[in-house]
Amino acid sequence: MNVALFQTLFWDGRSPSLDHQALQPILNPVEMGMPDGETAMKAIRDDAEYQEAFKKAYVREMNYEDLGRAIGAFERTLVFLDSPFRRFLNGDSDAISDEALAGFELYDGKARCVTCHPMNPSNPLGSDHRFHNVGVSARHQDFEELAKQATKILAEDSSEQKLDELAVGTDLSELGRFMITLNRVDIGSFRTPLILNIGITQPYMHDGSLATLWDVMDHYNKGGEANPFLDGGIEPLALSEEEIDQVVAFLFTLTDVRFAEENQQQFELQRAAAKKNRPIRDEAMAERSILPFEQRVTSSKSTDQ
Ligand code: HEC
Repeated sequence: MNVALFQTLFWDGRSPSLDHQALQPILNPVEMGMPDGETAMKAIRDDAEYQEAFKKAYVREMNYEDLGRAIGAFERTLVFLDSPFRRFLNGDSDAISDEALAGFELYDGKARCVTCHPMNPSNPLGSDHRFHNVGVSARHQDFEELAKQATKILAEDSSEQKLDELAVGTDLSELGRFMITLNRVDIGSFRTPLILNIGITQPYMHDGSLATLWDVMDHYNKGGEANPFLDGGIEPLALSEEEIDQVVAFLFTLTDVRFAEENQQQFELQRAAAKKNRPIRDEAMAERSILPFEQRVTSSKSTDQ
C-alpha cells in the first residue's frame, strides 16, 4: 500500500524505484528463482494477451525492463490515504476519538515518535525516509562479526543481484542499510516505514517480530534493544499503560476508511492478544517471537563458551 510514496524500496533501501524493485524477486534464488530476465520473458512471451497489452503500453517488443515498468505502474495505483486521522487534519474534529487525540499528542511529544515518523499537514505519511537502528535486530546479533563477513563477501561481489540474495536469504540482512553503504553508522538501520494503514499490516518491523501495536509500544517504551549502533533518538519513554493505550488508539486512526471493518477487527484481536501475552509492567519487555536465526546465533554462542 502507498508504495508510490516511498523514496527507496526494501527495508534497507537497496532499490531506487518500483520499476527496478519489481525485477529483483523474479531473479532471487529463494523467491522466484529465474536465472535471468530473458528466461523470465520466455515464460510469458508467447501469451497473446500479454503481447497485445505490452504493445499497447510501450509500443515495442516485450522486454524485461518494461515488465518492471508495468508492475510498478500497477503498484502506483494502490493509494490508501483517506484515514480518519487525515480527515481530522483536514478539519473534521469528530473524525477521531478523544483517546486517539490524546495519543497523537503523546506521539507528537512525550513518546517522540514524530522525530522519525513525521505526521503533519505537509508530511502526513509518517516517515522521514531515512534509516535508523531502533534496536529491533540487535537482540541476538553479533553485529561486528556479521559486518566482518559482509565486508568480505561484498569485496568479492557487490552486484545488485548478490546484495538481493544476501538481504533475502541470509542473516546478513540484519545489518540493514550497512549492506548498501558499508558505513558503520548504518549497522542495523532500516528505512523508517510509512505508518499509514498500520492497524492492518501486522506483524511489525522488518523481521515481523512484533505481533501487535502494543508490543511495538513496549519496544519503544523500554528504549529498544541496547546495541552500540542504536539511534540517539531511542531512549526509554516511561509511558504509562494508559498512555500506551492512547498512542495505540491513535495508530489505529491511520487506516484508510475503506478498511474500517478490518481495522476494527484487528484492533480487537490485538487488544485481546496484548491482554493475554504482555508481561506485567515493571518487567516490561517487548513480546518478541524468537526467530529461527536467533536461536541459531544463541546456541552457537553457548557452545563457544
Ligand atoms: C529514531 C527513529 C524512530 C523513532 C523515534 C520511532 N520510530 Fe518507529 N520505526 C523507525 C524505524 C527505522 C522502523 C523500522 C525498524 C525495523 O524494522 O528495524 C520503525 C518501525 C515502526 C513501526 C513498524 C512499522 C511496520 O510497518 O512494521 C511502527 C508501528 C512504529 N515504528 C511506530 C512508532 C511509534 C509509535 C513511535 C513512538 C513511540 C516510534 N515508532 C518511534 C524509526 C523510529
